[in-house]
Formats: sequence, C-alpha cells, structure tokens
Amino acid sequence: MSSAPASGPQLVFTYLHGMLRAAGLYLPNHPQTHRAKRVLFEALTAYLGGHGRLSYRFMGDLLVANDRIMPRESLLHRRFLEVCQFERGIGGITFTRGVTEREIDALLEALTEGVGASPAEWSARKRLAHLHLAPPSQPDRQTGESVARRAYHGSIEVLRDVESTIRARQAPNLEQVGTLRVYTSTMLEQMLQTPGLVVRLASIKSYDEYTLYHSVNVAVISMGLGLALGLPHDVVRELGMAGMLHDMGKIAIPLEVLRKPGLLDPEEWRIMRRHPALGADLLSRLPSSNRLPMIVAFEHHMRYDGQGYPFVREGWRQHVVSRLACLADVYDAMTSRRAYKQAIPVEQVRTFVRDEADRTFDARLARAFERMLQMFAESPAGEASA
Ligand SMILES: [Fe+2]
Ligand SMILES: [Fe+2]
Repeated sequence: MSSAPASGPQLVFTYLHGMLRAAGLYLPNHPQTHRAKRVLFEALTAYLGGHGRLSYRFMGDLLVANDRIMPRESLLHRRFLEVCQFERGIGGITFTRGVTEREIDALLEALTEGVGASPAEWSARKRLAHLHLAPPSQPDRQTGESVARRAYHGSIEVLRDVESTIRARQAPNLEQVGTLRVYTSTMLEQMLQTPGLVVRLASIKSYDEYTLYHSVNVAVISMGLGLALGLPHDVVRELGMAGMLHDMGKIAIPLEVLRKPGLLDPEEWRIMRRHPALGADLLSRLPSSNRLPMIVAFEHHMRYDGQGYPFVREGWRQHVVSRLACLADVYDAMTSRRAYKQAIPVEQVRTFVRDEADRTFDARLARAFERMLQMFAESPAGEASA
C-alpha cells in the first residue's frame, strides 16, 4: 500500500495541497506561495509530459485520481475535499498537457474563492485550455455502485497488505487501519443510498483468496444486519470494521491446513479452532483503542446456545456484536463455493437461519436477518465474480 514514497498523482496532489496551505499561511503573492506554485507546476508538467492527462474527482470523503481511489490522501485531506465540494463548488479537477503557470494561478483562485454556480462558465470566462473544473457530482445509482465496488476491492488490497505485514512479523500500522476504515465507511455510505448493494457486494466471491473476500463479505453483511436493526450509522461502521478483521487469526494457521482442498481431519480441526484466540491476540496489539474487533475475533465461532468454540468458562456471555458477526460469517460461508462443497442458494440459507434461531443464532438477529434480506435483496443481477 502507500507507505512507499508518493509518486505521480499522489505527489502532484501533495504539491497542490501544499500550494493551498502556503497561500493560506502566507499571502497569495508571498515568495513561499510562488515557490509552492512553481513546485506544483513542475511536477504537473513532468507528469503530463508522460501521461497527457491527470484527473482528480472528489466523491464525498473519497479522493479519486485517474479512476483510482487514493485512500491515504482521502484520509489526510478530508477537510480539503469537504471545502471543495460544499464551499467552493468544485467536484473535480482535470489537467491536460500544456498547462500553464497562469492556469495554476487560476486554480489557486478557484480553490480559495470558489467558482460560483458553474465551474464550466468560470473556466470559459478565464479562458482555461488545460484546466477543467467539474461541479460536485450528484450521487446517482451507477456512480454509487462503482464507488462501492472500488471500496470493496480496495479493502481486499488493504487486508492482503495487512496479511503480509503480519507474516513479516510486524504489527499492522495506523495507516492500514485508517484506510480500511475509509473503505468501510464508503461501502456503508453507498449501501445507505442503494440498499440492494448489501446482497450484491456480498455476492462477490473468490475461490483462491477465500479468506480475504470472506472477511469483506462478513463486514458487508454485518453492516446490513446493523442497518436492518436500525442501529446508528457510526455503530454500523464499527460492525463493519469488526467483520473485516474477524478472521485475522487465520494468518497464523499453517497454509496446508487453511487451503486444504477437502474436509479437515481431527488434528487439523484442532489447529483451525485456534484461529479465534490467535486473532484476538493479534488484534490486541493493533494501534486502536477500539476493542470490538478483538472481542469479535475471539467469539465469532461461539453459538447462542453456548456450543461452538473456543471453549470458555460457564456463564460466559457472548457479545451481541459477536453474535451478529457469527450470523454474517455463516451466511458468507454457506453461500460460497469451497473445494469440498457447492455454494448454497440464499433461500436455503434463509431457511437454515430460521431453523437455527435460539440454537446457533440469537432469535432477534435471525429475525433481523430475514428483514435484511427483504429490505435489501433486489434483482441480484448475476455479477457474482471477484
Ligand atoms: Fe472464523
Ligand atoms: Fe469467518
């Protein structure tokens, strides 16, 4: 991920933001501001020399550069994104080869003073040939769905990155956790606008990278359940984060057990059943004050009736969020194809969950699950591929 030195669109954006900061700290005509403009101009000219075009789009909390989400910059420059969209009337900036220093001056003016009702008219008035400003985009269903899908795949990338960090015996860092949070919030935001996304996103599967896709699907279904329960959105986002991280302990399970193309023997099961405790241990070292992911990692294979694993003392009360994650976990596991089983249709899972109310599942959550499917299931238009 992006702990590597910034390059290309990232670097140009850093300079763009640097110019704005210099103009705010000093005056637009101060030598520091001129220097910052010059640095931006040179980086931009170098980039455009090779690529011809560079486009940034602001979509709520997300910064998208050339159609790729920039999670780190989205996180760092949240306020900038907000000001552009809601105070300056700017939803995107596109540069093309040939951009001039006069156009950089105009950009600074637009970013500090705004462009009125129409960025296009403003640009025409200023006779800008290589700088195009777009108005803030109105959220529509298609854009929302593609943003959600990008955030889904972005989450997969972060989880893959976290996995290699842990395999290198290092602790996941704050930036990885923060990036995962940006993607989780983005999916939630889009799910609120397009409820059918819950089931459609959770139908993205990968046979080869089962655990990564499973983790994101558990996050999506957990958030869907939270919404069906009417929980506040900030709580729903935490359910998503806990879902993302619930199977973290599988990183510590030997690959020959984890990827065995068949049913596990008793000894392999014994090893596999250690993943909740291993996950809780890993997550206890995470740089976050939120203990929920750790609790959910430890408890997500416990059952409502006290069965399941890991073995705990009598009277242990499973956290309600772990019960919710347990249901989301079973849903995704059942609807996924594995080496030893076919994917089970959603209708059959629905019957199973109903039958297991008060046994495997908390009956209130089983009812919320029914509600979730009713609320969110719409034409699942055959797009279940990774
Ligand atoms: Fe698990
Ligand atoms: Fe799981």
